[in-house]
This record gives sequence, structure tokens and C-alpha cells, in this order.
Amino acid sequence: MDHATRSVEEAPWRVVDRPQRFRFGAIVGAISVAAIVSLIALASSAGGATGSLGNDRPVSTPSIFAPVSTPAFAIRDLSYFVLGICAVIFVVVAALLTYSIIRFRRRRGEDEREPPQVYGSNQIELAWTVVPVLIVFVLFLATARYIFGIEGHAPPSQALQVTVVGHQWWWEIRYPDLGIVTANELHVPARDPANPSPTFLTLESADVIHSFWVPQLAGKMDVIPNKTNRTWIDPHTPGLYVGQCAEFCGVQHAWMLLRVIVHPTDEFAAWVAEQQAPAVDDRVARTGRDVFRSVACINCHTVRGTTANGIFGPDLTHLMSRSTLGAGVAANTPEHLRAWIEHPAGLKPGALMPAMQLSRHELDQLVAYLLTLR
Ligand code: CUA
Repeated sequence: MDHATRSVEEAPWRVVDRPQRFRFGAIVGAISVAAIVSLIALASSAGGATGSLGNDRPVSTPSIFAPVSTPAFAIRDLSYFVLGICAVIFVVVAALLTYSIIRFRRRRGEDEREPPQVYGSNQIELAWTVVPVLIVFVLFLATARYIFGIEGHAPPSQALQVTVVGHQWWWEIRYPDLGIVTANELHVPARDPANPSPTFLTLESADVIHSFWVPQLAGKMDVIPNKTNRTWIDPHTPGLYVGQCAEFCGVQHAWMLLRVIVHPTDEFAAWVAEQQAPAVDDRVARTGRDVFRSVACINCHTVRGTTANGIFGPDLTHLMSRSTLGAGVAANTPEHLRAWIEHPAGLKPGALMPAMQLSRHELDQLVAYLLTLR
């Protein structure tokens, strides 16, 4: 039926009585309030990554609005720009809606006729097509400019190169030029204005798609099997920054946490020297080392300086220098370490490390050995 000839009697809104109209107004109001509250919540807690249970606390809440690195500063500025435009649109639409609801409400004693219905106005339809298209175009151009600005940044020759490999469910972290392999904790130097040495990250996946995200340092970057992605960070302030996997990758996706420890330059050099040393060979822990070698541990784990050279699990050469276990599920304490080895799935259901069914005595010896891997 032609809209213009639809008779007043057939219009569906004619049967709506007064209380229901009020309910409609209340629903619109509730949705608007919910939208505002969500926006505020989003703005104040954007980031969403949770701190893990390590000994030291992150310097601040992980939020894209508390950046400390050049790509993250750019993302914050762009976010304010986009949120500003969206806020203006929201205020204009909400104001017009509120005005219309109040100004054109049905009043007591009014006749029952519908107001004139407007169809086919070219001016109005052009306006509400062209204006949003222009707005989207501006948002698109601004976003593209920032993306190319960040991605097109070439690494200077003195940049620190790090390869991060996503695994179900932990992060392997390699420093190819320094001969260091560690897990779940990315150590980098703070920016030194006199000698800028940003960290360039090469992202790879061993299994499924993950996403590397440390909100205060850079944007999300997907970690994709058989594809190499790159991103970079240049933290201006030393401290601990937390991040996490931001792409659903299986049952332990939520516990695939990452810690970035930003050191002043000289402190970073000391960390490198410590990590480059081979594993401690403590005589007292030799029986534990033999347990480690006699069971399947060495198939998956490397301890540099021993015959253990597995690559499926985290490198344990300096296990005790890390502050968490299981990519952030527990603080790295002797008790948790023992519980973890005895029954990994108890701390991290779905973890791919099997329980080795060790005797109590073997477990004691093995834990004593691992505790020497400082
Ligand atoms: Cu890895 Cu989610």
C-alpha cells in the first residue's frame, strides 16, 4: 500500500494507549542512560587487561587513556577525536529526541487525529545520508592516517629486536640478537632521548590466532599462524605494564597474560647479562636435575647448559627470575611451583602440560632443582 494513502484507522500506533506511550518514553530514556553509563565505563576502564598475581604491581591501571609509548599516545589522541565526534552526535540526537518527545506528546483533551505524515522529502533524505557519510569519511581518513603513521615507522639501526610467539596459552619471547629466550615477561629498555632505541616486535603464532595487546604501549596486533606481523613500542617511563591476549584462542584465552617490564637503560643491560648466563648448576640440586632429565620434562622445556632442549614449553633456564607461573595464573612461589608441577590443570584447566605422576619425593627434588634456576 502507498504510505501516503494509509488511512488513519489502519495505522498501528492508533491502538497504543496512553500508559504504553509513557512506557515507550521510559524505555528510550533508559536506553539513553545505559548508553551514557557504558560510554563512561568504557572510557574509564578501556584496556580491560587485568594485573596478574605477581609480586610487583603494575604502575597504573591498563588503560588506553594512560599511554606511555609513542604508538599508544597516537591511539589516545585518535580515540579522543573519535569519542568527541560521537559525543557531539549523541548530544544532538538525544536533544532532538528529548525535544520531540516532550513537545509533541499527546495532551489531554486533544483530538485523536494523527499529525501530518511526511514522506518522500528529498532534502531530508539527502541530509541524513550525506552528513553521516561525510562524518564516516572523516573518521576513516583520520584512522588511516594514524595507522599508516604507526606502521610506516622504520626501525632505527639500534632498535631492539624481539620475537614474540603466541602459544596456547603463553607467550614465548625471544631476543635473537642477544641469545635470550624467556616467557610471559617482556623486558625492554625505557626510551633514552639521547639514544632512542625502540623495541620492534615480530609477532608469530605456534598454533591459533592470538592478539598481542599491552594497552599503555601500543594497539592490538593479531598474532597469526604462518604470517608475521610487526609492531613497536618505545616506553617513556620505566615500570611494569600489563597486557593480555585479545583474540579468543581457546579455554585459557583469559589467562594468557603478559607483563612488560620497562627498565632504565643500565638496569636493562644488567638484566640481559643475567639472562645470557647458562643455567646455574647447583650441586645440592643434582638429584632434582636427574629427575628433570629422566622424565618427559626435557621433551618440552629447555634449560640452557643441560641436555634439556625441548621447544614446546617455556624455556626454564632462568625460571625463577619470572614473577608468575602459567602466563600469570599464579605468583611464582615454591608452593605454587610444586602445585603446578603436580597438577597443572588444577591451576590452569586446559593447560597443555601433563601431570607427570611423580612421587612425593621426586616432586620435592624436582621443585628444589627448579628453585635454583635463578
Ligand atoms: Cu591467545 Cu587469546
